[in-house]
Amino acid sequence: MNDKIKKFYEEVTSSSNQLPLSPDTWPEEWIKVFWKTYPRLPQVPLINTELNLQKKLQSVLLGRESSRDYNTPINFLELSALLNFSAGLNGKGSKEQPRRTYPSAGARYPIELYIFSAEIDGLDNGAYHYNVKQNTLELLISGAVDENINTILKTQHEDMFKKLSALVIFTTVISRTQIKYGSSAYPLSLIECGHIAQNIYLVSENLGLRCCAIGGFDTQHTSDILDLTEEELPLYGVVIGKFRLY
Ligand SMILES: Cc1cc2nc3c(=O)[nH]c(=O)nc-3n(C[C@H](O)[C@H](O)[C@H](O)COP(=O)(O)O)c2cc1C
Repeated sequence: MNDKIKKFYEEVTSSSNQLPLSPDTWPEEWIKVFWKTYPRLPQVPLINTELNLQKKLQSVLLGRESSRDYNTPINFLELSALLNFSAGLNGKGSKEQPRRTYPSAGARYPIELYIFSAEIDGLDNGAYHYNVKQNTLELLISGAVDENINTILKTQHEDMFKKLSALVIFTTVISRTQIKYGSSAYPLSLIECGHIAQNIYLVSENLGLRCCAIGGFDTQHTSDILDLTEEELPLYGVVIGKFRLY
C-alpha cells in the first residue's frame, strides 16, 4: 500500500468512530433529509412502476454483465422503472424520512442522479435531474446532448458507447453526510454509488436493457455542464442502452 492510500484510509476511518449510537441523542442536522429540486424548471413526471421485475433473482444475478453494444433506444417506461426501482422511494420510513431502494449511511442520502438522454423513446433529448421526492425529471438542458456526452466520456475508447440511450451521472452532495461522518463521507458516498449502480445493473438485466459502469470520465466538464456547487462532486456513471436482434 502506498503512503497516500494509507493516510487517506486512516483519515476516512478515524472520523466516524465516536458517534453516539442512540438516535435520541442525534442533533437535528444529522436527521434532516435534504432534497435537491429545481422548482423553476420544467418537470417531466416519471411513470410509476408499471413494469414488473419478473425474472428470477438467480438468473438476474448470473445474467448481469457490462455491455457496450447497443442498437435500439430504450423507452420512457423503461427509464422510469430503472430510476424508480434503482434509486427511488420504497414506501418505507416516515413522511419526513422516506426510505429508498438502496441503503444510505445514516439515511443521509447524499447521492444525486442526472440523466443525459441521447435517444429515449417518449422523452425529449436533454439533460435532466432526477427529483426523487416527486418522482420527476427536471429539465436542465433542452435538446441534443451528444456533444456533452462525448466530452464527459472522452477518456473512454472512441466509439465504445455508440448508440447509447442515456448516460446517468452520480454526484454526491458531500456536506449531507460530512456533517455526521466527517471525512468518511467520501468513501461512504462511493459505496452508495455502488449500491445504486448494482441496482441499475440488476434492473437492466431484468428488463432486457444493457448497461456499463463508468469510473473514468471528465468530472470537471460534468460539473461545469451541470452547474454544480463545490459541495457536489461527480463520482460515477452508468451508460444505458438496448440491443435488439432483428
Ligand atoms: C468501479 C467501476 C468502474 C468501471 N469503469 C468503467 C469504465 O470507465 N469504462 C468501461 O468501459 N467499463 C467500466 N467498468 C466496467 C468493467 O470493465 C466491468 O465491470 C468488468 O470488465 C467486468 O465485466 P462484467 O461487469 O461484465 O462482469 C467499471 C466497473 C466498475 C465496477
